[in-house]
Amino acid sequence: MLIRHPSDIAPSEITPREVYRHRRAFLRSAGLLAAAAGAGGLLTSTAPARGATRLAGLRQSPFSTDEAQTPYKDVTTYNNYYEFGTDKDEPADNAHTLKTRPWTIAIEGEVRKAYSIGVEELLKLAPLEERIYRMRCVEGWSMVIPWVGYSLSELIKRAEPTGNARFVEFVTLADPRQMPGLAYPVLKWPYVEGLRLDEAMHPLTLLCVGLYGELLPNQNGAPVRVVIPWKYGFKSGKSIVKIRFTATQPRTAWNIAQPREYGFYSNVNPQVDHPRWSQARERRIGEFRKRPTLMFNGYAEQVASLYAGMDLKKNF
Ligand code: MTE
Repeated sequence: MLIRHPSDIAPSEITPREVYRHRRAFLRSAGLLAAAAGAGGLLTSTAPARGATRLAGLRQSPFSTDEAQTPYKDVTTYNNYYEFGTDKDEPADNAHTLKTRPWTIAIEGEVRKAYSIGVEELLKLAPLEERIYRMRCVEGWSMVIPWVGYSLSELIKRAEPTGNARFVEFVTLADPRQMPGLAYPVLKWPYVEGLRLDEAMHPLTLLCVGLYGELLPNQNGAPVRVVIPWKYGFKSGKSIVKIRFTATQPRTAWNIAQPREYGFYSNVNPQVDHPRWSQARERRIGEFRKRPTLMFNGYAEQVASLYAGMDLKKNF
């Protein structure tokens, strides 16, 4: 995503880590790491080894995929969260300075019932579900992540959007005392994202408070983020402080930075390449071979109707 140089992340930043990962994945598949450790299974598992607060009584979601889940370690150490650094491993190293309690989200704009909600209440607003979603990053990698949360529509319904509300803007925290990355103008802070109201109301759109059965780690967007599995990962704003309903399409952080590269819709679409990265195929973290990318990241059956009649090359 970085826009320091045209060549940006590809060779200089991702490759060494990817090479390292692939080597590990290869050794793992050959059984060599486990054998070397003398503890078969320890290194191969997706078993959580963490310490964050566990979330009890999670419902299983019919929206979940049964594809192999990306190991917890990869999900929590290979991140994009520029407020804590632009390298993939920096958020895990730096985000301990993020203070997630107390935390309030303001819900405002074109609504009849503007309200603020604290994170503790938010956790109880609707039954928490585990939703195992495919996630596709525009940079070309993908993961399968067992998120925890409930449909964002639960929060939206309470606000009673007016007839003027056509879009939803997500404003995320921007506090230079907690976020060292704000010292660098890589993006216009705060990181803002947006959806059309019907996209935000779609049952797949998740208000996310956890992963792997635990509260969200800071580097993944604690205490609350959104997850929109049929869109590229950058639409999923982290550490949200405001949800604003608007009549006009919000400007979003990546669109402001590079309007030619990042459109408002950002639906996963293997037929529309990003100017610097093909979107036809993807590398699932931990795998060698690239796999074909699916239209709407494999969620076409659920969401294609939202875009009926739209030119998705123009509305990228
Ligand atoms: N939200 C904020 N506030 N700041 C960010 O830099 N990065 C986005 C998105 N949300 C980002 C953000 C990008 S580019 C991606 S791919 C996803 O978060 C990554 O989420 P993950 O690290 O949990 O996989």
